[in-house]
This record gives sequence, structure tokens and C-alpha cells, in this order.
Amino acid sequence: MTPIKKIGLFTSGSDSPGMNAAIRAVVRSAIFYNIEVAGIRHGFEGMINGEIIPMGTKSVSNIIQRGGTMLKTGRSEQFKSPEGRKLAYEQLKKNDIQALVALGGNGTIIGVKEFNEEYPDIAVIAVPCTIDNDLRGSDFTIGYDTAINTVIEAVDKIRETAESHDRLFIVEVMGRDSGMIALRTGMGVGAEAIMVPETKSDLNALFDRLERGRKDKTSKIVMVAEGDEPGGAFEIGRAIMERYPHYDTRVSVLGHIQRGGKPTCMDRVLASRLGVAAVEALMAGHTGEMVGLIHNDIVFTPLGQSVKHHHDVNAEFIRIVEMLSL
Ligand code: F6P
Repeated sequence: MTPIKKIGLFTSGSDSPGMNAAIRAVVRSAIFYNIEVAGIRHGFEGMINGEIIPMGTKSVSNIIQRGGTMLKTGRSEQFKSPEGRKLAYEQLKKNDIQALVALGGNGTIIGVKEFNEEYPDIAVIAVPCTIDNDLRGSDFTIGYDTAINTVIEAVDKIRETAESHDRLFIVEVMGRDSGMIALRTGMGVGAEAIMVPETKSDLNALFDRLERGRKDKTSKIVMVAEGDEPGGAFEIGRAIMERYPHYDTRVSVLGHIQRGGKPTCMDRVLASRLGVAAVEALMAGHTGEMVGLIHNDIVFTPLGQSVKHHHDVNAEFIRIVEMLSL
């Protein structure tokens, strides 16, 4: 077992519900193993500026149920430069930090990968935290389950007003260039159609679907991932209004409500398991890897392989959504 005495912990990039549960798990498991934990505020920028605070069991009390991140986050242009990373390294050395647990998504993992290659004496484990669920090496990322439940709660509300007015709603959800949020919520809300970047979106096919649907259907929902190529919900809404001016069409972009909210039980459990596994992995000498859960097993994926991965859109999902939207 590598004698890690002090771990640096930070959240970086977009926040996601469950980050606090992961922070709690890293701090408490490290203390369980008599390892000190230093919290680094504001992500890589805070690392460069030395925003480093001691963390104890009490500092993570009563946060498991909270969305957001108590350590704050952000994106750092400075850290993208070798000079910026050198400043960060000096701060870690100055604070006797031997290892890092990085909570974040794509951008964070790319950042710690470069850092780890330049400064291999600082061990690094990344924990996948993003609502986009676009990383390889974990069936789900922390925050995805909460985000999709936030979406269906919102769209169920939209369905009620759509029903009342016999309207068609085009609903846009987040995901950067991943369609994972639109895919599952499309099935969860009983959408007519789902438009995701992973599959070629065909407006004519969408028009056909809307026209072919039952005439007595009084409300229709189309889910659109923000990264979908026709340009998102407003573009699709504009095209439908042009083609079918008799449809009472509205567009709704859900935006940042998808990033907040109390994490679900699934996200709290995932965050707790991955947080503990990250600390135990550092003790076991792992470095340069992302911890994840595949088929309920803890797995490790080299950082370079974990980034930017489009889960193959299970065509089954699209087929079922279309079949069930009769
Ligand atoms: O990566 C998470 C995410 O919420 C994406 O789904 C979205 O495209 C992006 O971040 C929004 O970023 P910002 O909060 O900087 O607007």
C-alpha cells in the first residue's frame, strides 16, 4: 500500500447533483484510513491560487442531500497552460498534497490527465460527475439520474398545459453534444419523437410522425437534445410552425434547472461508492484513472480513454418510443 498521507479534493467544470455526496464520501473514507484531506475551492483556478482548506468529518455534515458543490467550481483557462499547471503543482507541494481526487466531467478529466503526465509524482483519480452522462468507464455519471428526474418532473407539468390547450411542445434539454438526457426522458414522458446528436435527425421524418399520429391526440411532446444538428428546439419549432401553421406549437428550453436539485438516492449511492473507491484506489497505488461503475462493479479506466464518449444510442429506445407514442 502506497503511504498516501494527504489528499487534495476538488470539483471542476459544470456542477452536478451528487457532487456533495462524493465530497462527503472522499473526506470520510480518507479520515477512516487516517489520511488527511485538503479541500481545493473553485477547481483548477483555486488550485493555482492556493484556495486550499482543511476538511474534517464535520465539514461534510448535512451535505449528502444538497445539489451543487460546497467546494465551488469553475473552468480555468490558466490551467490549460503549462505555466498554470506548474503554479498549481507548486501549491500542492507547498501544502504537502501527494494525491488528487478530481470530481468533474470531460474538461476536468482532460485537465488532470495533462497534469498527471507532467507531474506523475502527484497521483490522480477522477470521479465522473456530469449530468451529460457522456464518459466512457461508467454506466452512469454522478448527476445524470437526478437531471433526468428533474426533466420528467418539468415535462409532466408541460404535458398538463399541452393537454389543456391541445398543443405540441418542442422541449430542449441539456447534454452538450450527448443525447443521453433526451433519450431516457423522451421515453419517460411518452414523447412522440426524440432528436439526439448521435443519430441523423430528419425533419421530414419528424413531420411524418406528427402527421401520422392519432388525430384525436390532444397533446404532443418532442424531446430535443441541445446538441442536435438542426439547431435545437427553436429551429425545429420554427420549421414545424412554417410547415403546419395550424398546429398550436410552443417551444420550451429547460436550461439550468437540470443542473440543480436534491440528488436522487441513486446519485447519492453512486457518489458514495465512487468516492470511497477513489480513496481506496489511491491507497492501492492507482493513478491516472477514472473510477466508475459498470454492471454494479467498480472499474477503473485510464483517463485518456474515459473522455468524450458517446454511448451508442440504443436504437431500441427510439423504436420503443415510436411504438408507444401511438
Ligand atoms: O456539461 C454540463 C452542462 O450542463 C451541459 O449539459 C451544458 O451544455 C453546459 O454544461 C452548460 O454550461 P454552462 O453552465 O457554462 O452554461
